[in-house]
Amino acid sequence: MSEMENKVVLITGASSGIGEAAVRELAGAGARLFIGARRGERLKALAEELGDNVAWRELDVTDAADFDAFVAAAEARFGRVDVLVNNAGVMPLSPLAALKRDEWKRMIDVNIHGVLNGIAAVLPGFLARKSGHVVNVASVGAHLVLPTAAVYCGTKYAVWAITEGLRQEHDEIRSTIISPGVTATELGDDISDPQVATALKEWRQKALTPDAIARAIRYALEQPEGVDINEVIVRPTAANM
Ligand SMILES: NC(=O)c1ccc[n+]([C@@H]2O[C@H](COP(=O)([O-])OP(=O)(O)OC[C@H]3O[C@@H](n4cnc5c(N)ncnc54)[C@H](OP(=O)(O)O)[C@@H]3O)[C@@H](O)[C@H]2O)c1
Repeated sequence: MSEMENKVVLITGASSGIGEAAVRELAGAGARLFIGARRGERLKALAEELGDNVAWRELDVTDAADFDAFVAAAEARFGRVDVLVNNAGVMPLSPLAALKRDEWKRMIDVNIHGVLNGIAAVLPGFLARKSGHVVNVASVGAHLVLPTAAVYCGTKYAVWAITEGLRQEHDEIRSTIISPGVTATELGDDISDPQVATALKEWRQKALTPDAIARAIRYALEQPEGVDINEVIVRPTAANM
């Protein structure tokens, strides 16, 4: 049996983009998947398409109690949880001087608190079983900062640091940072500044498709228990950042 066969994998932000691609990739590799996001109708359609090994529940990652209930529902459905992929994220970019405080807060809530809520929901079970794997989707923005992306990059630097801390504190739990470069998804569709929205369209002209990131996630998951892939950075070959 492969390392992936029957593994129970939870994926947040599975209703589009990288999360949806990861669901397809891992389901194809034999994993059992419990998937979450706020848009339940999209999750339902994906689960119906992929069959009994994919189950879904609506999830708002910013709500700690909801995340605990999500993990409990996955355990009830599949008997255990082996992997959590904290993939949900938002990127409403803007210059700091625009003072879009609500958008700063939303990025911090989803991108940082969402990841921490996920870690808190699975960590006690992983420690009790002395086994488990947390995969956090960061970004090339965890390694560089660009104008208009100060807060977004700040959240991704935080995801990088939190994941590295988790690795250092636990030698029975695997932790992986997946850092995508520009990828063609719905991320940033909610940018409210017209100039920044136009700039994003230009960046996206040299973009990966989400299946490239899904394959990196699969690579980390299918290693044997004693092998921990700590970070994978995936950029379009033609990208200069
Ligand atoms: N695309 C890129 O160029 C790129 C580059 C580097 C890093 N990333 C990272 O990759 C991850 C996935 O993004 P993507 O590119 O695939 O974008 P996407 O297509 O917009 O997907 C984002 C996902 O996050 C979910 N989400 C947002 N807020 C949520 C919340 N409060 N609770 C639960 N789920 C929530 C969305 O689902 P609902 O709206 O249904 O809740 C959606 O499924 C993000 O962490 C992003 O920062 C992307």
